[in-house]
Amino acid sequence: MEDNNLHLSLLLLFVSIVTLSLFVLFYKHRSAFAAPNLPPGATGYPVIGESLEFLSTGWKGHPEKFIFDRMIRYSSQLFKTSILGEPAVIFCGATCNKFLFSNENKLVAAWWPNSVNKVFPTTLLSNSKQESKKMRKLLPQFLKPEALQRYVGIMDTIARNHFASLWDNKTELTVYPLAKRYTFLLACRLFMSIEDVNHVAKFENPFHLLASGIISVPIDLPGTPFNKAIKAANAIRKELLKIIRQRKVDLAEGKASPTQDILSHMLLTCDEKGQFMNELDIADKILGLLIGGHDTASAAITFIVKYLAELPHIYDRVYQEQMEIAKLKSPGELLNWDDVNRMQYSWNVACEVMRIAPPLQGGFREAINDFIFDGFSIPKGWKLYWSANSTHKSPEYFPEPEKFDPTRFEGQGPAPYTFVPFGGGPRMCPGKEYARLEILVFMHNLVKRFKWQKLIPDEKIIVDPLPIPAKNLPIRLHPHKP
Ligand code: HEM
Repeated sequence: MEDNNLHLSLLLLFVSIVTLSLFVLFYKHRSAFAAPNLPPGATGYPVIGESLEFLSTGWKGHPEKFIFDRMIRYSSQLFKTSILGEPAVIFCGATCNKFLFSNENKLVAAWWPNSVNKVFPTTLLSNSKQESKKMRKLLPQFLKPEALQRYVGIMDTIARNHFASLWDNKTELTVYPLAKRYTFLLACRLFMSIEDVNHVAKFENPFHLLASGIISVPIDLPGTPFNKAIKAANAIRKELLKIIRQRKVDLAEGKASPTQDILSHMLLTCDEKGQFMNELDIADKILGLLIGGHDTASAAITFIVKYLAELPHIYDRVYQEQMEIAKLKSPGELLNWDDVNRMQYSWNVACEVMRIAPPLQGGFREAINDFIFDGFSIPKGWKLYWSANSTHKSPEYFPEPEKFDPTRFEGQGPAPYTFVPFGGGPRMCPGKEYARLEILVFMHNLVKRFKWQKLIPDEKIIVDPLPIPAKNLPIRLHPHKP
């Protein structure tokens, strides 16, 4: 009897706590949207807000629908919503992009969803703003033009080996996993001097799990994508720590050079207080670079292959440009910086691909002060989101936005703040030039060898959070006659 009473009391206590928590969350949610003169928009459901609509339009292949529906319903400039558990304002169009990009660290600052912070423990120990600052200080040495020039030959060697071992002598293959393998191998080689394909393969699977779970609902229960991402990040971090420790030994024994890659650079660079980064911090920074720099570029490459298959007249011009470069080379001679700079039409094609299918859909910021924009109050702490699609798919900036037209990038090109696959302002992607090189080197090696056709003519696109063809783009290869 006493036992039953105890159970009943515990049950009542549990129900009261749950009710109270839901009430607090609901109240918080409502009150967050109760300040005067907020931008127009909907609050959605308690707690989850409009997250499901935001994510599901991407799963259906049209992430821009979430934005454009609300631009029509509320305002073409900005609207409020609640996504990923946060009150947020979506900023749309070129003026808004300019505003967010040029007010970095004045009115707005870097912000990542909780799921990202939990995968990177060092971000939790300090904060994303400081971590992003640290990274920005380290990267120029590694991504400056003199350094990038040296990478072209290495990229070409890796691309040649990649095609020789995985494409040549095949009649059918699936593009996305191969594009990922190429960009990942490059990153491992250039960031950490790892060349052994078997060593790289150790990271590949956990990496895939990490990339697909990092921007997801942050529920850390067995089997959820988020839980798998955390486990994968831990496995990769463990492997990275081994590599870092070995490098320390190699540097001390003179077997590795201080300038050979970003890993040596991170180990030997101290901050203004003379402090060196610890091993875990370095592992997290490399992990961040691998994530930022590998899936984005492989998504871009996959869509380039898709559009070149669908548009033979565009393929022909890319082929012509690349063959003019190839014909000037002696047998075995690698591509160099000048060659890549001659690939202007091919780069315009890549840009048009990233306009229609931006690898990253946008980026978050946090308001670091209360401020007024376009007559609306933006409260401190609210999350702000810029969206590539709000300009890329708008007829105002890109007439006939659904039409694939690389000539948009000729001459002056698109108006400022309208073409933003790499973001803009002080936080613009630091890997933009690196990405340009790896994409162009890939295109050169690809069109020089093959024409191809899609095996699934109307393959669906899924955006989660990067765009990918639903079946990873299977194709049939048609090698050029020697
Ligand atoms: C096609 C390929 C790529 C695309 C489309 C892309 C796009 C972007 C975008 C949109 C941002 C966010 C800017 C913002 O929040 O406003 C970003 C940030 C970043 N990207 Fe890239 N990126 C690419 C390749 C790379 C590569 C190859 C690297 C490294 C070598 C890289 C490293 C980074 C880093 C470290 C950041 C964070 C910068 C910060 O927090 O300040 N990205 N990228």
